[in-house]
Amino acid sequence: MSNAPETDLMSKIVALCKRRGIIFQSSDMYGGINGFWDYGPYGVPIRRSVERLWWKYMVEERDNVVGLDSTIICHPQVWHASGHVEQFSDLMTDCMDCKRRHRVDQLPEQGVCPACGSTKLTEPREFNLMMKTYVGPVLDEEHAAYLRAETCQPIFVDFNIVRVATRQQLPFGIAQTGKAFRNEINPRNFTFRSREFMQMEMEFFCHEDDAMDWFDYWHEQRWKFYTDILGIDEKKLRIYWHEKLAHYAKKALDIEFEFPFGWGEVEGVHHRGDWDMSRHCEYSKQEKDCKYFDAERKESYFPTVVETSCGLDRLCLLLICNGYDEDTAATAKEGQDEDVRIVLRLPAKVAPVQCAVLPLSKKLEEPATKLFHAIRKRFRSEYDVTGSIGKRYRRQDEIGTPYCITFDFDSLEDNAVTVRDRDSMTQERISLDQITKYLNEKINPELC
Ligand code: GAP
Repeated sequence: MSNAPETDLMSKIVALCKRRGIIFQSSDMYGGINGFWDYGPYGVPIRRSVERLWWKYMVEERDNVVGLDSTIICHPQVWHASGHVEQFSDLMTDCMDCKRRHRVDQLPEQGVCPACGSTKLTEPREFNLMMKTYVGPVLDEEHAAYLRAETCQPIFVDFNIVRVATRQQLPFGIAQTGKAFRNEINPRNFTFRSREFMQMEMEFFCHEDDAMDWFDYWHEQRWKFYTDILGIDEKKLRIYWHEKLAHYAKKALDIEFEFPFGWGEVEGVHHRGDWDMSRHCEYSKQEKDCKYFDAERKESYFPTVVETSCGLDRLCLLLICNGYDEDTAATAKEGQDEDVRIVLRLPAKVAPVQCAVLPLSKKLEEPATKLFHAIRKRFRSEYDVTGSIGKRYRRQDEIGTPYCITFDFDSLEDNAVTVRDRDSMTQERISLDQITKYLNEKINPELC
């Protein structure tokens, strides 16, 4: 059931992620399960720190955005109101020869199975992407429920409780991060299209007259997150403007990144009109929870929503693809035999290990461990004493460690260590009493 990676470079990235315990298929020993991915010890810190950066930028540093953490399963009526039960579907077709299922809009050649070349395809039919389950012991339609297909719907449902509790006036936003589930017909491109994934969404509630200005504001803010906070080169990013809009939407764009398999959407910014709040009012009949009384305008109305919706797993994949490098020039410098150095040039603030302490000899374990214990209080750190120093550098390069600290016999005399920079491979001698200050300036742990 495994995914076939689309390009050579993608296969190398997928292989590296598994080899180094970053991301790998769920249930690997059973052959994997398509569209589900586990984050290993070096993947968890990447995902957590990206999520933390997003939360700080979107919630903690703003007065007008507050947080929420809702359940994955909510009242099934929520998904009727949102339109997901009726409309959240893709057109699919089955191959009668190889039995594979395809999305009609993704067929390279209409009427031909891309897997086996057969032309015996069934008539296209709608396939709902919601994952269904049953709440309680009775497995009938009355007890059916859905795993949330997007994190934003509970935000609309909880709008009024959150607004009253936080004494927010419009305009303000509610943000949440968490799991979403979609029964994608064709999961592919590693974690890019998964069946279980994480979203980071913010719904900004405002008056419809102001919504276009807020759309422009959030467009700019979200672009800055990629360029200024994550340091992504603008050349690898672009905006795709939607020409075909959902019937309720007024404006929509995607922020896309150039992945090895082509340009792909990482985030959407959407002007959703008052669709969400008016639909929840229609289905719940709770007008007081869905409308807002604007004391300045002296009117009561359904808030208009501007949404920023980012896929956390896609963002991690972006960082991994952006950081993956095969460095051919530098290997001779460190007396290594191999031709290429695989290096993951992740920003220090999201690197799973920010500094590794590497004693040159086991005899130096005691003072080196002391240093390691002091450093790991502030930075994500690792201690490694096994194998040649060259091999240890390579391992740290592959998981994206920006700084390796070598403790050698001279350290006992001069109370200094050598700090090796992952990207330039330059080495600097830093005195032990300056090492925390030095790393602080380089890594800035307040940001991660
Ligand atoms: N609330 C709006 C919404 O969910 P979407 O374009 O369907 O909009 C938003 O999804 C983001 O969620 C996408 O830009 C993408 O980053 C992420 N996403 C959507 N489907 C995904 C999937 N199958 N696997 C991984 N990420 C996905």
